[in-house]
Amino acid sequence: MPRIFALLLPVIVVVACGVPEGGERATFFFPDGDPEAGRTAFGQMQCYACHGVIGDDFPEPHATPPLPTPLGPDLAALSRGQVAEAIIAPYHPIPDDLEAPQMGDYSEAMTVRQLIDIIAYLESLGRQ
Ligand code: HEC
Repeated sequence: MPRIFALLLPVIVVVACGVPEGGERATFFFPDGDPEAGRTAFGQMQCYACHGVIGDDFPEPHATPPLPTPLGPDLAALSRGQVAEAIIAPYHPIPDDLEAPQMGDYSEAMTVRQLIDIIAYLESLGRQ
């Protein structure tokens, strides 16, 4: 009898807690990064190949078709978590009808420090 219970326990736990669909939604604390270092990382990773940046002087984006909206002060409307999500899980909240070059997977290329700093850099665009 206890054995049956042991077998059922994981099922009971899952039912009780609910299974998150896809990634779990959570807001979490993002430490302050260094916007200058973030700008450097943004340039090194050539994010500007697709993204125009309002308020900075990176080379013009050359991806085809060009992205409809440049990165800039509008990002201030997003939380740090949402900006991180756009970088970690690109295409997660993107409308189906968007025709644009696919943003790549940076999870191997980017350090956590670079992610934090890039977010600080993007945030700083709203303060200029
Ligand atoms: C190959 C093209 C491409 C490259 C390179 C690229 N992205 Fe993107 N990115 C996209 C597309 C497409 C979207 C979704 C459309 C949009 O929201 O503008 C997007 C969305 C985003 C968004 C969300 C914008 C918003 O307004 O919601 C952020 C932030 C972002 N990218 C940051 C970066 C960073 C940082 C890098 C470099 C590490 C990068 N991207 C490199 C194509 C690219």
